Amino acid sequence: MVASRSNEAVGNLQKILEPLPKTKIHGQVMVNGHIDPLEGQSVLPDLLVYRLGPNWEVELEAISARPVSQRPAMVIVSSESDPQVMRSSMQAGARDFFVEPFVPEEVLRSLDHLRAEVLDNSSQEDARISVVMNAKGGSGASLIASNLAHALCQEYEQQVALVDLDLQFGSLSYYLDLNLKHGIKEALDNVDDIDAIAMDGYLVKHESGLRVMGVEEGRMILNDEVSSERLRHLIALLARMHHHVVIDVPRQIDLITSTVLEMADQVIVVTQQSITHLRDTARLMDVLRDDLEISDENLEVVVNRFQKNSSITRSEIENTLKQRSLICVPNDYKVVSDSLNDGVPLLNIARKAPITKAIIDLCEVVRGNRHDDENTIWGRLYAKLKGA
Ligand SMILES: Nc1ncnc2c1ncn2[C@@H]1O[C@H](COP(=O)(O)OP(=O)(O)OP(=O)(O)O)[C@@H](O)[C@H]1O
Ligand SMILES: [Mg+2]
Repeated sequence: MVASRSNEAVGNLQKILEPLPKTKIHGQVMVNGHIDPLEGQSVLPDLLVYRLGPNWEVELEAISARPVSQRPAMVIVSSESDPQVMRSSMQAGARDFFVEPFVPEEVLRSLDHLRAEVLDNSSQEDARISVVMNAKGGSGASLIASNLAHALCQEYEQQVALVDLDLQFGSLSYYLDLNLKHGIKEALDNVDDIDAIAMDGYLVKHESGLRVMGVEEGRMILNDEVSSERLRHLIALLARMHHHVVIDVPRQIDLITSTVLEMADQVIVVTQQSITHLRDTARLMDVLRDDLEISDENLEVVVNRFQKNSSITRSEIENTLKQRSLICVPNDYKVVSDSLNDGVPLLNIARKAPITKAIIDLCEVVRGNRHDDENTIWGRLYAKLKGA
């Protein structure tokens, strides 16, 4: 929580603290006679950044009057450099103290350290990593990856990073209308020296809060310029900072893709409803299962541009790929071209469209909330027929 009597100070501090990983910031502007920013809060914040007003003595007394268990870790910001303000702040339990004008990075780093200290291990868990790969060029992996990441961020209020590992022809910036000034090349070069705060400089923020990393505009990276060790380090760092990392990878098995496939909690293979697509998908899935040892429960198949009246049915696809519970994303030329032309994600351009609903279904699956029919009669029969 960022609290103050000054609206401007709250806005300013909220902006400075935006890069904090896995953190939701609540601004609290205190009005009228209120002197305790925590009064009436049903849930206490983990951290309080309190910018004192002219009545600082009374404000600090109100905090000090709280039982210790009702005081979150606190950082005080003051416009006055009077040593008495600092003493009283420390007596009220402040963990750090800044006088305006302060250096924003110093406040940010102080809060990042405190954040790591006060959060329990459960919220420090690394992100789920979902890798999206085409079974055949142009099947729609980039559309699926960008809209999945966007929906996870917007609908589930998660901190999500989207990484474009198509180092030569990356296209995620088109789907989200972003300009990648800094990106993966610089991040990989500096990976040994960056922490969560510095990492923010290499990510571009979409208005939804989604953070995107891809190759810098106008650049191309050759695969042999990338060390798998550095890439692993970079993805691990991103995983520590987010709840979910979605990675769009090109359709090839090489050092780069196998590095991230190994780290993935889920691999989402994107295909379409044609004989050639299915043949390529079956081959890719064999490699993923047998050579990269990705287990069936970590493997999902999205059939993109799905049409119910096609001669290849859903159950034929399931049988060919030995894969249950396909996620079918309908063909919708108009909505997809509108989305691409304007750089606006599906959720924001056609919230109610079936294609958008399919993306939400995919979110549920990657979050582990699949509506499994394992326990239904049909589910058991299906498993038996499949020899599972
Ligand atoms: N569900 C859909 N309905 C209609 N059109 C679609 C759909 N999905 C994708 N497209 C079209 O297919 C094109 C390719 O999509 P996308 O860029 O996601 O492919 P890709 O698989 O990432 O391609 P590449 O192999 O080049 O990386 C898009 O420009 C879009 O016009
Ligand atoms: Mg692509």
